[in-house]
Amino acid sequence: MKRLNIVILAAGKGERMLSSKPKVMHEILGKPMVGYVIERAKELSPDNIVVVIGYGREKIETYLKAYHVHYSVQKEQKGTAHALLTAKKFIKDGDILVLYGDVPLIEHSTLRSFLAFYEQFKSITFMTTDVDNPKGYGRVIMHKDEIQEIVEDVDATPDIKQIKRINTGICIIPGKLFHLLKTIKSDNKKGEYYLTDICKIAKREGLTVKGYQHQKSSEVLGINTRKELLEAHFTIKERILEEHMQNGVTLLDRNIYVENNVKIGKDTTIFPNCYIMGDTTIGENVVIGPNVIIKDSKIHNNVSIEGFVVMEGVEMEEGAKAGPFSRLRPATHLGKDVRVGSFVEVKNSILREDTNANHLSYIGDAEIGKHVNIGAGTITCNYNRRRKKCAE
Ligand code: UD1
Ligand code: MG
Repeated sequence: MKRLNIVILAAGKGERMLSSKPKVMHEILGKPMVGYVIERAKELSPDNIVVVIGYGREKIETYLKAYHVHYSVQKEQKGTAHALLTAKKFIKDGDILVLYGDVPLIEHSTLRSFLAFYEQFKSITFMTTDVDNPKGYGRVIMHKDEIQEIVEDVDATPDIKQIKRINTGICIIPGKLFHLLKTIKSDNKKGEYYLTDICKIAKREGLTVKGYQHQKSSEVLGINTRKELLEAHFTIKERILEEHMQNGVTLLDRNIYVENNVKIGKDTTIFPNCYIMGDTTIGENVVIGPNVIIKDSKIHNNVSIEGFVVMEGVEMEEGAKAGPFSRLRPATHLGKDVRVGSFVEVKNSILREDTNANHLSYIGDAEIGKHVNIGAGTITCNYNRRRKKCAE
């Protein structure tokens, strides 16, 4: 393929979310939905990625920094065609693949097949799918394998509303037809410039518009409401759990929440209702749970974390044990074979090899050597009622 530009539309407010946060920044398993779309775009190694931002742009701009992509600003949200036109300055030549920031479940293999389909015909192509409940989506009017028109839900007559073939939003426009976008009008109920109207215009010019039919509709649905966000959450959660199981992790329930960036070694077993979040790495042959919360922590091999342990910003070395009912707060470091038991809270402390704090203690801002046995009821702290100081 010649040059490929990918434009991700992400400027809309997302009225139906009833949120002050821009829709595409709503998170699924710890990652904003637009992040998934950018990752899928990057996997295609295009020449250019442009994200169109607008509503709540400061929040999205900050998030985009880590991805090193271009962004263009759509000051007023006047519709998807208008949004795409704002990306023009970054598009010198080549075809334009359009992805929607609110369609985050799309898979790499699907996009590859879509591009391969496009390569056969090189016409404007929209990805379509059939759904039982098409409410809210643009309905696709087909003639043989060509698209005649896409009618938005709000503009559809009762007859058109019966059509179950919907527009996923994902489309590709040959570079030489990009100028057609400028001729789109906003003569519809919403008064918006609809990207989907490019179909009508292309037809008028005697051009064909192809419909690529994708079978697995659950993967290409848009997220417009909180209910759809929850559905997407379930889909991604399952994908993450599947991947860990394929890598040799035993899960004793599906009710386990593992965020995107978490790494888990083989032969680790996780009991029900555990939450493993943020930048967490878990070694091999670790036992976790039930009912454990782990955030931003590093767990080495052969560690045991029993029920109802809550930890954040912790490192546990090989063979260490925590729980049940321990609270481990940021900058806690448990050395090799250390044991921390029930109703023990540890903060900003290091407990060196083979030390125990088995019952009812608070260990704060402390450095404790090897082979120490901390008895029940022990407190170490540095709070002087006026200001807190670090250990000196
Ligand atoms: C859109 C499609 C519809 C399709 C559905 C699939 C149009 C006109 N309609 O409808 O045919 O079935 O997606 O999910 O394209 N956006 C902007 N600027 C704007 C408006 C929207 O960047 O001015 C972005 C949004 O952030 C979002 C995407 O475009 O990521 C789609 O916008 P949305 O308002 O959700 O369109 P839908 O009504 O879902
Ligand atoms: Mg949408």
